[in-house]
Amino acid sequence: MQRTKVKDLLSGAAAGQDVLLKGWVRTKRGNKYVNFIAVNDGSTINNIQVVADANNFSEEALKDVTTGAAVSISGELVASQGKGQAFEVQAKTIEVLGKADPEAYPLQKKAHSLEFLREIAHLRFRTNTFGAVFRVRNTLAFAVHRFFNEKGFVYMHTPIITASDAEGAGEMFRVTTLDPINPPKTEDGQVNYTEDFFGKATNLTVSGQLEGELAAMAFSDIYTFGPTFRAENSNTTRHLAEFWMIEPEMAFYDLKMNADLAEEFIKYIIRYALENNREDIEFLGQRLTEEDKAKPQNERQEMTLLEKLEFVVNNDFERVTYTEAIDILLNSNHYKKKKFQYDVKWGIDLQSEHERYLVEKHFKKPVIVTDYPKDIKAFYMRLNDDGKTVAAMDILAPGIGEIVGGSQREERLDILVERMKGVGIHEEDLWWYLDTRRFGGCPHAGFGLGFERMVQFVTGMGNIRDVIPFPRTPQNAEF
Ligand code: 4AD
Ligand code: MG
Repeated sequence: MQRTKVKDLLSGAAAGQDVLLKGWVRTKRGNKYVNFIAVNDGSTINNIQVVADANNFSEEALKDVTTGAAVSISGELVASQGKGQAFEVQAKTIEVLGKADPEAYPLQKKAHSLEFLREIAHLRFRTNTFGAVFRVRNTLAFAVHRFFNEKGFVYMHTPIITASDAEGAGEMFRVTTLDPINPPKTEDGQVNYTEDFFGKATNLTVSGQLEGELAAMAFSDIYTFGPTFRAENSNTTRHLAEFWMIEPEMAFYDLKMNADLAEEFIKYIIRYALENNREDIEFLGQRLTEEDKAKPQNERQEMTLLEKLEFVVNNDFERVTYTEAIDILLNSNHYKKKKFQYDVKWGIDLQSEHERYLVEKHFKKPVIVTDYPKDIKAFYMRLNDDGKTVAAMDILAPGIGEIVGGSQREERLDILVERMKGVGIHEEDLWWYLDTRRFGGCPHAGFGLGFERMVQFVTGMGNIRDVIPFPRTPQNAEF
């Protein structure tokens, strides 16, 4: 017999028929007459209830059917008598494929803390919460491809190993095969990277953008979706050393078109998750509501997770310039009462407390901030006519802060070269990048969406370590 997934069993399509199911035992409870076994196979947040009659299954036969064990069960799918499920399986055969010693198996019926589950990340997929989170993550990833595919974008695989520091975005991880104890040295005592694997110093990429721009100058519209690496020592709930980023790059786009696309994109993938993972998101929402009950009234969320997502999908994002944003902050009571830890004045990099004030207190919706001072943004952003600001945009999301960073790119060779000089990037190192400004250059723009921050937003998970299967953070690369 062919195995039916739990999700399909629960639809009841096979009611009245014999079915085969395989999965992991979540719970077993029962009495002298009957045992109820809840089985989950990851296809849905819901378990299928298996009814094992004591007449057919002795205590001995069920002794290894314990929480965490892998089982193969056949029986008839019937309408359920009990509450909580529409269909259940009347077991005819039960085989334990893999035992899980109840004394040793760390996941028991009780609720476990997220911190504890992080330490057993290899098993946490089997909990309701992480099952829901990673199904939502999967759906969002699929929606990313669907969105761009529908728009005729070409998916571009940009390199993971690179010899350039695209952004100056942060510290990079070195990639080398040199002997760390005794590396070859140049005459002046430096490590001699010409003897390294690639004949030069290389790193893990912080962004696929620069290569993405090259491809956009041929395909018009491209996107990347891959892992990126930053060795910044930020131990926050928003930073990973290894995270996934989606970076579309579009020829013939200006900043406004770039912002429009980003907004449409974010709404599209949220909507897709709402349509395809409703139960998971509802479950995660209930989880948050429960968590909220333990908090004082003024710290509780104004909207449930579902309400928040529906709101974002159905309303325009706010759009302000950096200069307007600074004015809003300066005029706020929050500022006047000296409640910001970091000072506010034109020219500062917005701190997360400022971003959150704008998004959560002032606008209460996602905000696209544009036209930042050039000195706090990357060299490739297009210089505005005022000579002080660049055509940058950050999208700030409630509860998360910066979720997207992007810009219109500097397509004018002379200005670009000037800006590179300003930040100490050598022309020779980026000769290939500059070539796109020499040969058929054109106005173009793009942005980067931090995928984990997006998953956080949709699942409501407070810590970025809980939305990637095996997080890489300072002092932590287990699993
Ligand atoms: O703002 P960033 O640094 O922009 C770029 O890398 C550009 N090359 C993008 C582009 O224009 N093509 O990063 C983009 C996004 C951020 O807004 C944030 O969501 C996410 O990537 N991000 C991180 N996510 C998790 N952990 C980190 N350490 C992150 N750093 C950035
Ligand atoms: Mg940024």
